[in-house]
Amino acid sequence: MRWEVLADYEAVSVRAAELLLAAIRNERSIVLGLPTGRTPEGMYARIGAQCRREYHCFAQTTTFNLDEYVGVPRTHPASYYSYMRQRLFEHVDLNPARIHVPCGTAPSLEAECASYERSIRDAGGLALTFLGLGRNGHIGFNEPGAPFESRTRVVELTASTRNANAPFFPGGEVPNRAITMGIATILDSLRIVLIASGAAKAGAIRRLRDEEPSPEFPASALARHPDVLVIVDKAAAG
Ligand code: GLP
Repeated sequence: MRWEVLADYEAVSVRAAELLLAAIRNERSIVLGLPTGRTPEGMYARIGAQCRREYHCFAQTTTFNLDEYVGVPRTHPASYYSYMRQRLFEHVDLNPARIHVPCGTAPSLEAECASYERSIRDAGGLALTFLGLGRNGHIGFNEPGAPFESRTRVVELTASTRNANAPFFPGGEVPNRAITMGIATILDSLRIVLIASGAAKAGAIRRLRDEEPSPEFPASALARHPDVLVIVDKAAAG
């Protein structure tokens, strides 16, 4: 695992955007794994701004989002589909046919998960995946206890994750399940970049740095991957 400790959130966002755009320039038809959450907002803002200047950079790119809430329609403002539409899809020239976000309202969630895994495989596999980090170490929505061999599936969200995301559901109806790529799905990505910012992540970052891999801290699975870059700001680095 390689580490970069940068000054602040701004620097983390600029660096992550730079890596993503460089990867696309290098390989136009790249397959990306993409995160949601507060952390990547700055990265997406910079990518949108860059692509207004350098049009056609996403035309051949394929994207797969890490996760989506179960039971939340795509049109709901707190769905991860809405998040991605607002922050990335509307600002770049991605081909809608190459955009993938799990559908949390699919009639058969099991079939949706199986077909998501198949689509990733059919696209040639993830080449570069960006991750945020939950305070309890979750990646995607792989909560503590998630097996390292897990694939895309429906998971129960922990109380702490539901609390962290409650502000996005002002009506109080925070979903208790989600579809997420599994840890093994994520580890199959050729390259992985994890970004974290702020003092609230310092505990999780310390565990990522110091602890032996264990499903109790899902992000620790990344130690088993040969090409992981962790980009943190000073506050998250403690
Ligand atoms: C969310 C997402 C994760 C994200 C994490 C951290 O619940 N499912 O993919 O990385 O929690 O989010 P944030 O960046 O808002 O701290």
